[in-house]
Amino acid sequence: MVKHPKTGAAAGADGQRIDDLIDPDFSAGVIEWQKKHGRHLLPWQNTRDAYRIWLSEIMLQQTQVAAVIPYYGRFLIRFPDLFSLAAAPADAVMSHWSGLGYYSRARNLHRCAQRVVAEYGGVFPADPALLAELPGIGRSTAAAIAAFSHGVRAAILDANVKRVLVRVFGIDGYPGAKPVEDVLWLRAQALLPDSEIEAYTQGLMDLGATLCTRSKPACDRCPLLPRCAAHASDRVELLPMRKPKPALPHKQTALLVITDADQVLLQQRPDSGIWGGLLSLPEVDGQTALDPAQLPDPLQFAQSVARIVAPFGSIGTCEQLPSFSHGFTHFKLQVTPYRVRLARRLTPVGQDSHVWYAQSQLGGAPLPAPVKKLLLGLFEVAGTPLQSG
Ligand code: ADE
Repeated sequence: MVKHPKTGAAAGADGQRIDDLIDPDFSAGVIEWQKKHGRHLLPWQNTRDAYRIWLSEIMLQQTQVAAVIPYYGRFLIRFPDLFSLAAAPADAVMSHWSGLGYYSRARNLHRCAQRVVAEYGGVFPADPALLAELPGIGRSTAAAIAAFSHGVRAAILDANVKRVLVRVFGIDGYPGAKPVEDVLWLRAQALLPDSEIEAYTQGLMDLGATLCTRSKPACDRCPLLPRCAAHASDRVELLPMRKPKPALPHKQTALLVITDADQVLLQQRPDSGIWGGLLSLPEVDGQTALDPAQLPDPLQFAQSVARIVAPFGSIGTCEQLPSFSHGFTHFKLQVTPYRVRLARRLTPVGQDSHVWYAQSQLGGAPLPAPVKKLLLGLFEVAGTPLQSG
């Protein structure tokens, strides 16, 4: 059984056996392609120097080759070996990383250098499990360093390699999710060649970065095309699946349709927030989280309604109307309208934000779309509802 070098946990949660996944033709195809068409002149290639390989792999985490190359060169001039890096002040390390981004990488790089000096006499261990114990070195980076510097047979699985494996084997699900990742690690381990691990590791990286790209992949030039499940089922553009969006939070609110004869009371919304600057219906107690287990307190609700209506008259009847939902970009709002008929109307003082609107004019009013739809339906007024709101 495959073990995680950091946790020791068994990989592969779906019961697949590693022996069933072995397929020497896969690695043979990758190695042959890498030798002919892969990258061979990158500044961190053609060396067994673990310091240079480690530095490149850290810089290449989440950063493209073209952006890394100038930083890599400058860094090596200032810190030519592990000892010079370990002994350097933190500020000097940070200033040579400045502009490359993800600065925790630089802090971990410095710490890692000091630990390799203190714990290994300045010589990086060859064992990926030991490498993965060091700051900033995850399982995939550990495997890449061990493979390139010592020819160790260890599996890499960065974002590019995930994309290749997901497509070739038609693996559904978001590859960042633990169960999918476990399946991918099991595959990655089973596919390792018995020899030429360097060309194979570089080949997977090169395929992912240059042919099997997220958009517009060059499938016609891919050595894995004949065995690619995504291509065979016309799902190359769909795989890898994207991270599922978290469910939108649900909120609720109550709106008052206060009417007197053929007029309805509208209120100007504040400039910021939802429906900013539009006219709308008076809202009771703002928007709160929708929690079916927690019913609103009826007495408190009645008091809030009375407080809103009081400047405009006395309540004749108050009737609950059917609720409806409206989706915003960041949340879903359940609206419960209440029809309030006035028994007696007052001319309020100091209520400039409110306006009595003739029902027949509502079609042209600057209202949010769902509010306009509600009112036009309620009063059976013909109009042109807004397109969005
Ligand atoms: N991305 C991560 N490691 C890499 C490497 N050694 N060469 C090119 N791209 C990489």
